[in-house]
Amino acid sequence: MKYHKFSPIPPSGAVIGHRGIAKHAPENTLSSFKLAARQKVDWIEFDIRLTKDNSLVVFHDDTLERTTNGTGWVHEHTLKELAMLDAGAWFSPAFRGEPIPVFEEVLPELFKLSLYLNIELKIPPRVDEAHENRLCEQVITLLSSSWPSLQAWPLISSFHWPLLEKIRHALPEVPLGFLSETCEAATIQMVANTPNAALHCDYQNLSEEMLNLCEQANVPVLAYTVNQPEIAKKLINAGIFGLFSDDPQHLRA
Ligand code: G3P
Ligand code: MG
Repeated sequence: MKYHKFSPIPPSGAVIGHRGIAKHAPENTLSSFKLAARQKVDWIEFDIRLTKDNSLVVFHDDTLERTTNGTGWVHEHTLKELAMLDAGAWFSPAFRGEPIPVFEEVLPELFKLSLYLNIELKIPPRVDEAHENRLCEQVITLLSSSWPSLQAWPLISSFHWPLLEKIRHALPEVPLGFLSETCEAATIQMVANTPNAALHCDYQNLSEEMLNLCEQANVPVLAYTVNQPEIAKKLINAGIFGLFSDDPQHLRA
């Protein structure tokens, strides 16, 4: 398959570490990202979201309970409040004291680790457009002011497509990933009409028929979250562009 319009680096055949290496370290933490580099996984996915005081933190859930010792909505906490939380102990006592990464602070570390990045933009339910605008403004400012010129652009993805439109408008050269649980003809067509873009789907909803449609439309597909080698093999044989996995080493083996 050829993808003239999609230009992330590495270009193809990639297994992407989901939230770092979520199987073996607390998701979306520096430990998880360092482990990816140690395991020679060169492409990682992680999630970012906005705090109450308009900073960006690396965090998956809308709320704090599952992966920290805090409670409540992430976007109702300031950076200072979030900095006091433990984002590692829930996973294992060995990771006690692991902080929630501040996006701006963790980026230089990720560059040092030579990781290629897929940054997923998250918003809580029922927020107004002002929240979306503030999130995008922060991302755009960071990408346009602090992104090293020799560093490949990150692949920016989201389930909330209006966010991607805002990013594309401000930074047309940044590749985009349209996240969708399902893979439907209309979605494939929309991605096909968007330069330098991919479709990111739940692998469980990817039929052979839909993958063929994507191939015909020259739409690269990345599938989440694949942890079983036999499923990975099937998807790779079917021409998938990339796979998100909590345990890339297991897939490789
Ligand atoms: O970006 C792929 C995958 O991370 C999407 O789902 O819920 O793990 O962010 P989620
Ligand atoms: Mg994600």
